[in-house]
Amino acid sequence: MNDIQINAPLRDFNTLQLESWAAFFASAGTREDVQNIVHTAISRDLPLNVLGGGSNAILRRDIDGLTIHMNILGRQLVDEDVHHAVIRLGAGEVWHDVVLWAHSQGYYGLENLALIPGSVGAAPVQNIGAYGVEIEQFIERIEVVHALSGDITTLTNSECGFGYRDSVFKRAEGKHLLITSVDLRLSKKPICCLDYPGLRNAISADPVTPHHVLDAVVAIRTRKLPDPNKEPNVGSFFKNPIVSESVAARLKDKYVGMPQFATEHSQTKLSAAWMIDYMGWRGVEECGVVVSDRHALVLINRSAKFASQVIDLASKIQSSVQAEFGVQLEIEPQILGLDR
Ligand code: EPU
Repeated sequence: MNDIQINAPLRDFNTLQLESWAAFFASAGTREDVQNIVHTAISRDLPLNVLGGGSNAILRRDIDGLTIHMNILGRQLVDEDVHHAVIRLGAGEVWHDVVLWAHSQGYYGLENLALIPGSVGAAPVQNIGAYGVEIEQFIERIEVVHALSGDITTLTNSECGFGYRDSVFKRAEGKHLLITSVDLRLSKKPICCLDYPGLRNAISADPVTPHHVLDAVVAIRTRKLPDPNKEPNVGSFFKNPIVSESVAARLKDKYVGMPQFATEHSQTKLSAAWMIDYMGWRGVEECGVVVSDRHALVLINRSAKFASQVIDLASKIQSSVQAEFGVQLEIEPQILGLDR
């Protein structure tokens, strides 16, 4: 039986380093551990929460129920043909380490997603994306344990319901699915995605190889985004809002220079960072939380203890953007627990 800790401190399990306590806490190193923990939760009538790297979670003070730290490791080639390799990754693997490993094995495609903090199991939940690439492009299948039964099943890519920073795992119908491993289908032929202008312009080599892309992404992220290991943060704090073309056109008329990006279904993605910056928030500090002076979409915890301090600043930012642009910013990381 897995050790279950009572009233476990979670400060070291979230990259914002907020003070938080799990009523019950257990670490799972195998999928059987996950099943055992699920059965314990069912028999004691405890709700379940999952923590991976804690880089996309805002932990309020008290996390009720049983919190599983997903710690399943493993990287394995499970299928291949001339052009592709399918690799199986344990949910507890560190995402960036996997990106480097896959690249070194000659399995290409993940280079644009280098240096995104967090674990493999958390990556599909928010469909991590950067520099023109999203993880959904590579997902072959995902193994999950049902939190309501302990049963193991697999989901195909289309069953994951991916969207921009969204998936079934964030929605009511999928919240009970605990990801234990992720299969990615990668290219054995070198491929490079250079759709993102800032990335294309950062590479002078010709021809461009996946190695150049990897180096450029690491350089851009290191320059633009604060390192969560040094300045506690959860990456982009807000999603980039998606609006109709007519709303976008109205805003473009009024705000010359406002970045806009066309998306599917005749909609336009706005830059949350640009709007927050426009409202003068960059570098502003309140109650120990500061809007990064390097990137306005990132909130850094300087000395705050509790999630409420971060959420208060986020609410002020949301109100000011709403008042000026008429656009609602949605918080991107998941908020867990309660303040009591
Ligand atoms: N900008 C500002 N002020 C700032 C920062 C950026 O005006 O302080 C402007 C930039 O000049 C640019 C625009 O905002 O015109 C977009 O900035 P950037 O290229 O940095 O991308 P982003 O839209 O802010 C998104 C993702 C990032 C991802 C980058 C690169 C979201 C919520 N964020 O940021 O993802 O790395 O694109 O693809 O989609 C994350 O999810 O944690 C994350 C960091």
